[in-house]
Amino acid sequence: MASFKGIDEFQQKLAYDGFATALLPPEVVEKLRGLAVEAFAEEAAGFQRAKPSAQGFPPRMEWHWASEGTDGKTVFKEAADVLSQYLPNFNLVAAKFIVATGECRPEDARFHQDFESPNVPLLATATALLPIWPLAFPEKEGNLEYYTWDDLMASKKVDATQVEEILAFSRVHRYVPGEAAVFDGKLFHRTQPFSEFAFASEKESEPLSKMRVLVSYYFAQLPPDNVWEGDVRKTLASQGAPIP
Ligand SMILES: [Fe+2]
Repeated sequence: MASFKGIDEFQQKLAYDGFATALLPPEVVEKLRGLAVEAFAEEAAGFQRAKPSAQGFPPRMEWHWASEGTDGKTVFKEAADVLSQYLPNFNLVAAKFIVATGECRPEDARFHQDFESPNVPLLATATALLPIWPLAFPEKEGNLEYYTWDDLMASKKVDATQVEEILAFSRVHRYVPGEAAVFDGKLFHRTQPFSEFAFASEKESEPLSKMRVLVSYYFAQLPPDNVWEGDVRKTLASQGAPIP
């Protein structure tokens, strides 16, 4: 159970920067890792599989959405319950494994907002990304690049054609086991580029070798009469999520 102080600091950071980290118990993450091994080595049932249909994502990326009444849903829920302590006014809308293999060149991954629709306001949605594999991420590959609200304002002062200079304002969150990166649905972010060998295990036989596996959770505040719930559901459904 996260301490009240930890949760308080988390919420201040999420509001101020649009980005914060939340801690999960090792046994919860371990179960998700076990589920990933089952799902990707043995094609476990209970996932709705999809691939990004738009450009701007690593070329070999797959999405495995947890669907109703399966192990996937139950195991995913344990971590979601911990995250809900950090996000008490939010509802979980969908969850998935994100699996990337191969390489991702800088031009492959595009900075984007998870909930781009103008109907979705700031602080209404949150994405949590939890690293599952590898156990230790490379320092400069496959992590998460993002702009805090302040970084974004600062980058706007630079000539829009100077891509390198604008990129210099972005930050990198290095994935650490047991730590979820949580960010506002309006925060610009992308996958840090990676080479084909970035996630290879020492032992080739390792079931998740050469994969980068994350779990992503999508949360939204859904007060009565809000104007964004439809757009949140539509965005996730368009990515293959089992949304009623
Ligand atoms: Fe995203």
